[in-house]
Amino acid sequence: MKKLLGVAAIAIISVSCAHNSMTYVGMANEGQSFVKTVTAKDVECKSVSVESTDRKFSSIQMEKLKFDESTVCQASLPKDAAVVRSTNGVINIPTAPKKIVIMGDTGCRLKNKNGKGPIQNCDDEKEWPFSRLMRSAEKENADLIIHVGDYHYREECTDPVKCKNFQGTLGYGYKPWEADFLAPAGNVLRQKPWIFVRGNHEDCNRAHEGFDKLLSPVGEEKCVDAQETRYTSFGDFLIVNFDNATVDDKPVEAKSEAGKALRERYKKMVETINARPEKEVWLVTHRPIWGLAPSWSGPGVSPVNINMEAITRELPLPKKVKMVYAGHVHAFQIAQGNHPTEMIIGESGTALDYFSPEAMKLVPPGHTIFPADHGYALLERDVNGKWKASIKSYDGETDFICQISEPGIPCQIFK
Ligand SMILES: [Fe+2]
Repeated sequence: MKKLLGVAAIAIISVSCAHNSMTYVGMANEGQSFVKTVTAKDVECKSVSVESTDRKFSSIQMEKLKFDESTVCQASLPKDAAVVRSTNGVINIPTAPKKIVIMGDTGCRLKNKNGKGPIQNCDDEKEWPFSRLMRSAEKENADLIIHVGDYHYREECTDPVKCKNFQGTLGYGYKPWEADFLAPAGNVLRQKPWIFVRGNHEDCNRAHEGFDKLLSPVGEEKCVDAQETRYTSFGDFLIVNFDNATVDDKPVEAKSEAGKALRERYKKMVETINARPEKEVWLVTHRPIWGLAPSWSGPGVSPVNINMEAITRELPLPKKVKMVYAGHVHAFQIAQGNHPTEMIIGESGTALDYFSPEAMKLVPPGHTIFPADHGYALLERDVNGKWKASIKSYDGETDFICQISEPGIPCQIFK
């Protein structure tokens, strides 16, 4: 093992892994961040050796988990992990990330409910550009990647002609996960730590098994309606991952079981954020708080998610929450007002939502929708601590920049 220089806190995990496997890191609560090695066949898991900051070595046996025909070997990372090294590459965990790529809603849409809705040609990057976007994201050399949910779209297909080439990747098993996420995201997974947000496509009726086994902390393989809220700390900067995958977009009575459970979880999150020492907080979640979608009932736009909006009206987010990032709606949006600036980044691969010119005219002031391109967001922190968001499209070209100053103050948008 080489001695590493220039890293403040060093913990090295050496992962032994089989051929054709992929090792990646997911960030969660202290002690719950994890390393996983996924192999497309049955293999035995080996132990990992850990070097901690005080240079103590220990050997940890990777736990074996079966997911369909694949093997997931996994271990929790120690609190002071700074570098994860495997035969698949080296992953540095930043102490203070200054460059963050954010994406969402990335899978290839094949499901065609009642003959309606688009079917993407997953072999054509013009139709399903996730691989192309990931090649661009790789070049950004970010410190951290955030996926705001909806990884898996290859559920079923009712059009045998259009889906002829994809019959082997339908369903909820390993193969669709490999095709929709692991393979196209592979190079970035091998190199950078990720924060994985759960989307509604990964709820307990859909692709939960893959999410629980591939992208959740060790020991969370059983599907629950809402995973624990995760708090990933980087010094003074905290990223809170709030699972709202199962929070219906339609109104839910506050006094119903679901309404009460949501309020309880949300209140606990607000209290936890208030009690924590970090000064700057980002909230990452799947369903937007102040999102807009094309209206189903006629021209115009409708709020998404009305229940998230209601709970933040009842109990506002703490002032420390400077930004909110979500997905779910497949068009880039910025929501600004008397709340933290929210970016909706649900345009990273799956078919885009169509906002008609009539609908666009009815978008209220303070809300901006850019429905034209697939893409991702690159957030960069300057020397003064301010974040600049570059909204990028297919080959990494910048569509526009949003210079963020303070919550409640509209970001300056320029080319
Ligand atoms: Fe979604």
